[in-house]
Amino acid sequence: MRVCVVGSGGREHALAHVLNRHHDVVVTPGNPGIPGSVGTPPVEIDADLYVIGPEAPLVNGIADQLRGAGRLVFGPGADGARLEGSKAWMKGVLVEAGVSTAAHGTFTDEAAALAFLDTMGELFVVKTDGLAAGKGVVVTTDRAEAVDTVRSYLSGAAFGDAGRTLVIEEGLTGSELSVLAVCDGHDAVALAPAQDFKRVGDGDVGPNTGGMGAYSPVSLVTDETVDNLMDVAIRPTLATLRTRGIDYRGVLYCGLMFTPAGPRVLEYNVRFGDPETQVVVPRLTSDLGDLLAAASAGNLAGLAAGAPSVDDGAAVAVVCATEGYPTRPRAGDLIKGLEEASAVNGVTVFAAGVGERDGRLVTAGGRVLTVTGQGETVNEARSRAYEAASQLSWSGIHYRSDIAATPSGVSQPELEMDQ
Ligand code: AMP
Ligand code: GLY
Repeated sequence: MRVCVVGSGGREHALAHVLNRHHDVVVTPGNPGIPGSVGTPPVEIDADLYVIGPEAPLVNGIADQLRGAGRLVFGPGADGARLEGSKAWMKGVLVEAGVSTAAHGTFTDEAAALAFLDTMGELFVVKTDGLAAGKGVVVTTDRAEAVDTVRSYLSGAAFGDAGRTLVIEEGLTGSELSVLAVCDGHDAVALAPAQDFKRVGDGDVGPNTGGMGAYSPVSLVTDETVDNLMDVAIRPTLATLRTRGIDYRGVLYCGLMFTPAGPRVLEYNVRFGDPETQVVVPRLTSDLGDLLAAASAGNLAGLAAGAPSVDDGAAVAVVCATEGYPTRPRAGDLIKGLEEASAVNGVTVFAAGVGERDGRLVTAGGRVLTVTGQGETVNEARSRAYEAASQLSWSGIHYRSDIAATPSGVSQPELEMDQ
């Protein structure tokens, strides 16, 4: 098959890398660090399957456009992508589907928002309704910061129209898990769960980012836990979408928190996670292209190979970022050590915020490279990833040193999911 991957980040590089084991792959627009990158618009590329990476084009209807041109597409239409394009709408779907989630309110009015904030306990959670590149969520115990956030969102100062409607949520605590479900409109199969590290600094301090690292598998999260999640969250959500006339074909990324009161769905994204993809798809031993093509055709049941299979090992991804990320990322610094990092046993380096100047690779975005180490155990994968990351350098490079350092804090009683 010829597969066209749409996007330009580490996630798309990882998808292309793994698809390339069995298929011809072209990436658009890609970046100078991703082999097979072309600048051609997707609709002008002749491919048997189109895999859409980022949320923004999905929300803007790229999958509808390509399907309209008769192409096979992995990614929801604009109707389903609303799950990520509007957190208020997503919460409505969760409630209708009977999926456990944080209590919440949706606001456009400051006085009403501030009054609701005061009913929310000691941990304040304020989210933009619209897309904000993973940075529109503030979780704080500082009421003054929460109030400032409400004002800067509603005024449009922080995220423009994306923040003029906001969601305030009950603050939850617990460990988090990302489950990527491949959906065919009716049914879904889960890929191996992963854990993401959202905050910029070691020990989970500093602002939220798109994700600074990830690992898979996650100890204590069993196949039964994931099967249960599929039954109580993913399938009811697909059914609710169908009652709204939405045929959802693509990844439903479920962000979960294991709270003392049981698991809660924090969010859905309508695409593969970044950097979760960089640890989840390299572990596949079955053909990713066949899986995505079957889902795109609405026929996971017809997949000859059955459920996706994964290796018995582990993968750890460390995101290397530019100076100033996530607040004021700097661009244009020379990237050094890529060859040495890529030569470390068991390591693949995926290019994200990478540009080119005078034939050399330079930084061009906040998250520059994801270094994925694979090994027999999480510890082996982790030490390989960090050995490779230490070979990389550019002015102001930073990465977390505690990715996958401690096993998941998930405890068995927290895993019992019911509605
Ligand atoms: P989201 O984009 O909605 O997943 O939020 C980004 C991150 O903010 C999540 O991964 C959590 O770490 C945190 N978060 C989101 N919602 C809540 C909540 N209700 N309580 C506590 N933390 C949250
Ligand atoms: N790693 C979080 C995300 O992809 O949204």
